[in-house]
Amino acid sequence: MTYHDEQPAVFVLDFGAQYAQLIARRVREARVYSEIVPYDISAEEVAERRPAAIILSGGPASVYAEGAPHLDPGVLELGIPVLGFCYGIQEMALHLGGDIPRTDIGEYGFAELTVVGDGGQLLVGLPGTSQCWMSHRDSVGTAPEGFTVTACTPTTGIAAMEDPARKLYATQFHPEVAHTECGQQIIRTFLHDIAGIPPVWTMVNIIDETVERVREQVGTDRVICGLSGGVDSSVVAALLHRAIGDQLTCVFVDHGMLRLDEAEQVVRTFRDQFHIDLVHVEAEERYLSLLAGVGDPELKRRIIGEEFWKVFFDEATRLEGVKWLAQGTLYPDVIESGNKTAAKIKSHHNLIPFPAGVHFDLIEPLKALFKDEVRAVGSELGLPDEIVHRQPFPGPGLAVRIIGEITHEKLETLRRADAIIREEIGAWDTERSVWQYFGVLPDIRSVGVMGDERTYGRPIIIRAVASADAMTADWARLPHDLLAKMSNRIINEVEGINRVAYDITSKPPGTIEWE
Ligand code: XMP
Repeated sequence: MTYHDEQPAVFVLDFGAQYAQLIARRVREARVYSEIVPYDISAEEVAERRPAAIILSGGPASVYAEGAPHLDPGVLELGIPVLGFCYGIQEMALHLGGDIPRTDIGEYGFAELTVVGDGGQLLVGLPGTSQCWMSHRDSVGTAPEGFTVTACTPTTGIAAMEDPARKLYATQFHPEVAHTECGQQIIRTFLHDIAGIPPVWTMVNIIDETVERVREQVGTDRVICGLSGGVDSSVVAALLHRAIGDQLTCVFVDHGMLRLDEAEQVVRTFRDQFHIDLVHVEAEERYLSLLAGVGDPELKRRIIGEEFWKVFFDEATRLEGVKWLAQGTLYPDVIESGNKTAAKIKSHHNLIPFPAGVHFDLIEPLKALFKDEVRAVGSELGLPDEIVHRQPFPGPGLAVRIIGEITHEKLETLRRADAIIREEIGAWDTERSVWQYFGVLPDIRSVGVMGDERTYGRPIIIRAVASADAMTADWARLPHDLLAKMSNRIINEVEGINRVAYDITSKPPGTIEWE
């Protein structure tokens, strides 16, 4: 799915650095639709697809390196406004007759950016000096003919340059990273003032256009959607319901490993609030009998995953006339940044194990959206905050957070302790600065004393981490009073728990989850 028939689109040419997705998101924050495309997209294809502007991303390599990625220079001659960042400025200089001396003097990290002259069209309105973020080895020594230099830093003579007659603009620094003070202002100036693109990528437009496309795609067919209680599947369900109403049936396979009140909330939201045709399969017992005696985490995951699809397709094939299966695939699932293979479409994402003889066509209405856009769409559609801002939660749910064999009693114990942790940290963390917090029930017992009685109970481990993307994480520095309150409440309110510990391991070396 692409929106740019209706929406002016910006193409971000991905030269393989980690920055292309960030640039695409920044463009969307400026309310302009963006798409990541391979760096070697041909000028003919660009001309045919008519983006309203082009941004060249940074890249890891020197333009002189063997096998360095190069754009089709014809892209710079289409009359479409082009903005190059970092590697992008060097690509422009290389193809247009500038000079990039091999000085081997790099510049990494913060640098003071000084505007030259009036800053030209791109840097107009910037303060005389501001902070920018640099990450490069080579830099442009002489700008190509027709270009004006509009900024410098103490070590880089050409930190920004432009040729308004050819609509070409470039910066050596990275406007897309938060460390560049005026970065978003520069991006907005380029999009709105230079390229003349109006800020029309709004939640309302995203919803209207998606709804329109879904209607065109499915016509009068029936659609089935698996609901997990997570953000993505919930937004898919709400969006499809907006588009096709009663043609949608949702199947919620409740494996019994959800948190306190979570299953009830799914039913309340989708059946009672949205009036969606919802099949709620209560399968805790079925799962517990399959998991009896199983302690190995990988085996637990496999059993739960396989059973999920079995239960789901049992229900799906029971319904008559379903042609489509809806899936909550997001934009980052679709694109894969890399060097030679930049922005290629991932081929193996979220493969669905259709049983023999069963097939549905896939409909993926969130395929063009980033996670923050999906949350905004969810809020706009009226989903409750608990769903829209739900923390990451493993597919196998609490099964991952109970070490060793899973029993109904252990699930109940963890649910109650986890609810206290979520309630207390949630009330304290009003800014949502903690990425994830939850309880873990390990497979040990220890001695304690309560009143005059000796106890032999289980501990609960509190896990709370700060993170930006779950790839790395640090344990959250929670106030001692908050930890004390959770400890008291858990021991007083949850039977069988006689000890509370706080996990002070970062990732790496730990992981966020315990399994
Ligand atoms: P780890 O434990 O590897 O977790 O540091 C990284 C992030 O992934 C989440 N996680 C999952 N998310 N399905 C998911 O959708 C899963 O099976 C799963 N397992 C772990 C975890 O909560 C953390 O945010």
